[in-house]
Amino acid sequence: MGIYFLLLVVGLCWGQYNPNTLPKRTSIVHLFEWRWQDIAQECERYLAPNGFGGVQISPPNENVIITDPQRPWWERYQPVSYKLCTRSGNETEFRDMVTRCNNVGVHIYVDAVINHMCGANAGAGDHATCGSYFNSKTEDFPAVPYSSWDFNDQKCKSRSGNIENYHDISQVRDCRLASLLDLALEKEYVRSRIAGYLNQLVAIGVAGFRIDAAKHMWPADVKAILDKLEDLNTQWFPAGTKPFIYQEVIDLGGEPITGSQYFGNGRVTEFKYGAKLGTVLRKWDGEKMAYLKPVAMTGFVNIAGVKSGTWLSSVMWWMASLSPTGGTMAAIKWLLAVVTKASSSSIMMTGL
Ligand SMILES: *[C@@H]1O[C@H](CO)[C@@H](O)[C@H](O)[C@H]1NC(C)=O
Repeated sequence: MGIYFLLLVVGLCWGQYNPNTLPKRTSIVHLFEWRWQDIAQECERYLAPNGFGGVQISPPNENVIITDPQRPWWERYQPVSYKLCTRSGNETEFRDMVTRCNNVGVHIYVDAVINHMCGANAGAGDHATCGSYFNSKTEDFPAVPYSSWDFNDQKCKSRSGNIENYHDISQVRDCRLASLLDLALEKEYVRSRIAGYLNQLVAIGVAGFRIDAAKHMWPADVKAILDKLEDLNTQWFPAGTKPFIYQEVIDLGGEPITGSQYFGNGRVTEFKYGAKLGTVLRKWDGEKMAYLKPVAMTGFVNIAGVKSGTWLSSVMWWMASLSPTGGTMAAIKWLLAVVTKASSSSIMMTGL
């Protein structure tokens, strides 16, 4: 046990696994589709006074405007350029939000959409949130710029050009996800454009990135981009601090691509956790809501199959009471990792 705990402590010091939140601040809230001005106010009047550590924001870069259906949430996952203007706000407002939130100790985590650009059927014109011209048919995005050379059409081997079979690793990573134009991330040019975008955000003062659709990128390509990232802005972070990285890998089991393939790059969001919680809420497998009581901490252990009052929950309370400040979450993660046989770096808990 001692060895495992030591490894966890070392792991937490390792840049890209460290959430870069202030001490005692263990929760990051996801303010999906909020405006930058509203988030800045929320940091000052609610999140900071109540001890929140950070905010995950919607993608801040220019996206295609979709009108059928009318402006859906998913248009924000269809980039047109890396200019910072969306319906959440423009670059001036973005910088103001990052500064004001950081100044009250609440850090900003950017949802980074880097696997693809817009859908193949998005058309041609300037119907984008910054007004940039693009042509999805010829794969022309002059505001970056990207041309057809920068996409994976030659590499993808599926009949339609889309992902058809999730048991074919190459298809999942080289073909189009639901028609989204798939960037050629093995190209140095493409990697540099993406790193340039992320580094602009780092310079402004963001603390890390949620890597959207990481499952659809080769882990080594993601690493090559992360290797180009600068350290965080020293106005708010210690010198030499790396951006926090957490990757979206939807792994519910049964597919050849697993979350663990991405542990080398940073953390991975655990989709099995939501599935387990759903089992409890639906009272499947003999689970009960009562097992979530009396506090969230035992709730997590119960979800992993351990009921309160057992030796394991006692050990957890004991570890939590021994842990230094901020160690409670580390103790929970460690125990959850042991119980579920997952790597502790794969376990990410937000909103507790
Ligand atoms: C950004 O948005 C604000 C608020 O709408 C506006 O006052 C400002 O002029 C905009 N700045 C730029 C550079 O467009």
